[in-house]
Amino acid sequence: MNILVTGANGQLGNEMRIVSKGSKDTYIFTDVMEEEGVDTINLDITDFDSIRKMVLDKDVRVIVNCAAYTNVDKAETDQVLCELLNAKAPENLAIVMKEVGGLLIHVSTDYVFGGDPYNTPCKEDQKGTPTGVYGLTKLHGEQNIQNSGVDYLIFRTSWLYSEFGKNFVKTMMNLTSTKPQLKVVFDQVGTPTYAYDLAQTILAAIDDYKKEIVNSQLSIVNYSKSGIYHYSNEGVTSWYDFTKQIAEISGNRNCDIQPCHSDEFPSPVKRPAYSVLDKTKVKEIFGIQIPYWMDSLSRCMDNIKK
Ligand SMILES: NC(=O)c1ccc[n+]([C@@H]2O[C@H](COP(=O)([O-])OP(=O)(O)OC[C@H]3O[C@@H](n4cnc5c(N)ncnc54)[C@H](OP(=O)(O)O)[C@@H]3O)[C@@H](O)[C@H]2O)c1
Repeated sequence: MNILVTGANGQLGNEMRIVSKGSKDTYIFTDVMEEEGVDTINLDITDFDSIRKMVLDKDVRVIVNCAAYTNVDKAETDQVLCELLNAKAPENLAIVMKEVGGLLIHVSTDYVFGGDPYNTPCKEDQKGTPTGVYGLTKLHGEQNIQNSGVDYLIFRTSWLYSEFGKNFVKTMMNLTSTKPQLKVVFDQVGTPTYAYDLAQTILAAIDDYKKEIVNSQLSIVNYSKSGIYHYSNEGVTSWYDFTKQIAEISGNRNCDIQPCHSDEFPSPVKRPAYSVLDKTKVKEIFGIQIPYWMDSLSRCMDNIKK
């Protein structure tokens, strides 16, 4: 089967390159920019005709959309581009995959929540209450996919990190080794996610989809597991506790890390105070086990140090 990955030079896209290495399927890695040293075909997901041409030319049956506008603060003053990338572009992918009877795997975010004061883990069918442009445009992207009639899997994830690109783990590994003191918010609670673990879950879902096609003996099926799923690592933490653990694993014991409130770091967007995702559905439907966040953090930091 031919599987197209968009945004392949980002965090999740790069983890897709790693986890798919042993696969019998043919993976086609694309991004808006070609990157030196990695095999990437140019594909801008805002360009409908280019998507359709690539899907038809390469007989693509599954798209894994790892591309997005991910700068949460900048999104507040860049609404048009953010909507184009996070809402219109996923719709483009959905329309093309609907035409060929394929599957669209899309990634969304815990930022679709946050406007209501939750204190229990968010379920998939809980009403979206985004507090900023990024979350709102990601919610629109989900709705556009659902309205297109395509077979889809949407994985909402949170606090994504990896050995690739810029992210919280790498920033804190650096800051806790160079700064004598650090203040980190303790009033935002969620769950970190190692992008490698999410990529493995995406591969498990693709295998499941393939089995359903083979069993149905039809080339086009209505995938029985189409829907929204929550995926993060297991457990719950605050950014403060997350930082303490990063410093602990790094052996950076000379940095005095103190908890503080969000209002000490004014930001253009209000971030969710509690956005823990309930993962019961993804575990039950796909029969997967999810690693505990501290274990995944250790694995990722080992890989960063290599
Ligand atoms: N990062 C998080 O904490 C987090 C949390 C929850 C959910 N998510 C979601 O998880 C997914 C993956 O996030 P990530 O952190 O891996 O993202 P990322 O590292 O920012 O990667 C996104 C990739 O998409 C590319 N891209 C931008 N515009 C494009 C276009 N028009 N066509 C094709 N590619 C384009 C980017 O290229 P440039 O770099 O050149 O722009 C980048 O390589 C996203 O859907 C995101 O919303 C992320």
